[in-house]
Amino acid sequence: MFSHKKVFSLPRFEYFCAMKILMVCLGNICRSPLADALLRKKIANKDLQIVVDSAGTSGYHVGNQPDERTQENARKHGLDLSDLKARQFTHKDFSEFDWIYVMDRTNYFNVLELAETDEDRNKVKLILKELPNEPLNEVPDPYYSGEQGFERVYNLLDAATDAIAEKLLENAL
Ligand code: 4NP
Repeated sequence: MFSHKKVFSLPRFEYFCAMKILMVCLGNICRSPLADALLRKKIANKDLQIVVDSAGTSGYHVGNQPDERTQENARKHGLDLSDLKARQFTHKDFSEFDWIYVMDRTNYFNVLELAETDEDRNKVKLILKELPNEPLNEVPDPYYSGEQGFERVYNLLDAATDAIAEKLLENAL
């Protein structure tokens, strides 16, 4: 006799995540891993279901730890970046993430080149736009700078991630 295979509806214990945020720069070894770690630290223990990650538009440093100078600067501020590994931004990130924060205009255009819909494009924001009183629009690339350049990047990203964390806590992002 023909019998239908019984299909059980099993309970799904999927991890509920209210928001996913991706930080993007060129190499994913200086600015975006720092922005990623700063935001994660600021929302830790806040009872928020938020995933934060980072990626680079280039594949130059895929698999590498953050740049030693970024790690040194972050350590000075009490942040350990040693567990992070660079990866390249892909089109799939548009469906994975709700917001994609880019560090500068070059990152912005590189990311938009992979966008297919207005929904994709509307997810992409320059991170310093979160600081309305900041005259700079871009987080400067510190790769060819000295220690001061890395400290400047730290201060900009510390302020920008404060603003983002505040919005997340107010459910306003
Ligand atoms: P990031 O910095 O985009 O902030 O990670 C850079 C890292 C590497 C290079 C440029 C910028 N590079 O030319 O290899």
